[in-house]
Amino acid sequence: MRPDIRNGRLYLGGCDAVQLAGDYGTPLYVYSEEEIVGRFASLREVFLRRWENTRAAYACKAFCTPAMLKLVQREGMCIDVVSGGELYAAIQSGFPAGRIEFNGNNKLPAEIDLAVDYGIGRIIIDGLQELALIEDACRRRGKRMQVLFRVSPGVKADTHDYIITGKKDSKFGIPLDEDFIYPCIKAAIDSEWVDFLGLHFHIGSQLFSVQPYLEAADVLLELLRETRSRFGYTMSELNIGGGFGISYTGEEEVQPYDYFLTPVMERIQAFCTDQGISRPTVVVEPGRSIVGEAGTTLYTVGAIKDIPGVRKYISVDGGMSDNIRPALYHAAYAGLVANRADQPLVQRATVCGKCCESGDILLRDAELPVVETGDILAVFSTGAYGYSMASNYNSNPIPAVVLVGNGEHHLIVKRQTYGQILENAVIPDHLR
Ligand code: LLP
Repeated sequence: MRPDIRNGRLYLGGCDAVQLAGDYGTPLYVYSEEEIVGRFASLREVFLRRWENTRAAYACKAFCTPAMLKLVQREGMCIDVVSGGELYAAIQSGFPAGRIEFNGNNKLPAEIDLAVDYGIGRIIIDGLQELALIEDACRRRGKRMQVLFRVSPGVKADTHDYIITGKKDSKFGIPLDEDFIYPCIKAAIDSEWVDFLGLHFHIGSQLFSVQPYLEAADVLLELLRETRSRFGYTMSELNIGGGFGISYTGEEEVQPYDYFLTPVMERIQAFCTDQGISRPTVVVEPGRSIVGEAGTTLYTVGAIKDIPGVRKYISVDGGMSDNIRPALYHAAYAGLVANRADQPLVQRATVCGKCCESGDILLRDAELPVVETGDILAVFSTGAYGYSMASNYNSNPIPAVVLVGNGEHHLIVKRQTYGQILENAVIPDHLR
């Protein structure tokens, strides 16, 4: 997406970014409602409307606030939650229970209880132990739960090691060994307390090739076929996870949703036609691709340090406490100076955060205009896993979040205060 520049200033959702920084303070997360809605619209157009029996569950780990959940709800989508905390946010936002799916490799008994009590749509189970916990929770309440199994399809996705999840050596998913997967499936089919719907995979994140999706889909289809022949049971749902890559620097080869989804759907459809069965419901779980490019972080420039012959460091008032991704995954971003958006790029400098950590770098060797203390720096594509992975490292408060669109702006998360950081801290009597 090309930045919207008017009279030398950056505009976000029709709002002057410098003005937003002035009104709400910095660091500030700014989300474009139009951009998020646009992503849902393209998913609807190339997937949900093109293929019947499909669903999209927004993976809210990417960005989860009550306002976002309301937006997802308004757009008619489902959500994927991965914790009691996300589930609680969904419940508090009045998210329809039937449209919630629950993933995770170690769901706690209390989290499962919450899910069963609220009557959520599906639990995606990561192993036999969890099946037993769910059955127990259902038995105690006299309720049933619809479930899928997450498998690790053993495919290698081309992305950062930390966000690969589909290979065999992974804490996620059930390995495909005969004496592992089939007992799980059999137990779920026979269970009095769960309805076994089918299988799930999520192979990794920030992916640009459809190849691993096709390979993983083949694995699910083979399991579906074998389950029919062993147990005479036909699965009714397959979930192919998320992972669709986005643009951070403009250099990535970003693919539209249909690049991934059309070949996968055709593969599944062809298999079902061949087997003479109706196609199961197919579900996707995009997170990053919905909110990533919709988010921009605004910072105020502080100290500037020019180390002769080495490097110029431009420090801003946030950093790894609001965006851990460069430090954690060596993620690269692009940005610009919002109040000098049309000025010539005359220098190369590194934009760093204010945290006490040398790895706290936001933009390495960025091309920038003249920059002065007090300027407003915008970093693009911070909408996914920025706010949601923010921390209080160095006791930096979590920044505010603003939703913009059509020239309007709405505060959706207030800036944390120092007092709130300390809210739960207790001094025992002997130290008073
Ligand atoms: N479904 C499941 C089961 C997942 O584990 C994930 C992400 C998604 C869907 C959504 O994937 P997405 O469409 O957002 O790629 N913190 C890392 C990303 C971790 C992703 C974890 N799982 C990052 O900042 O890159």
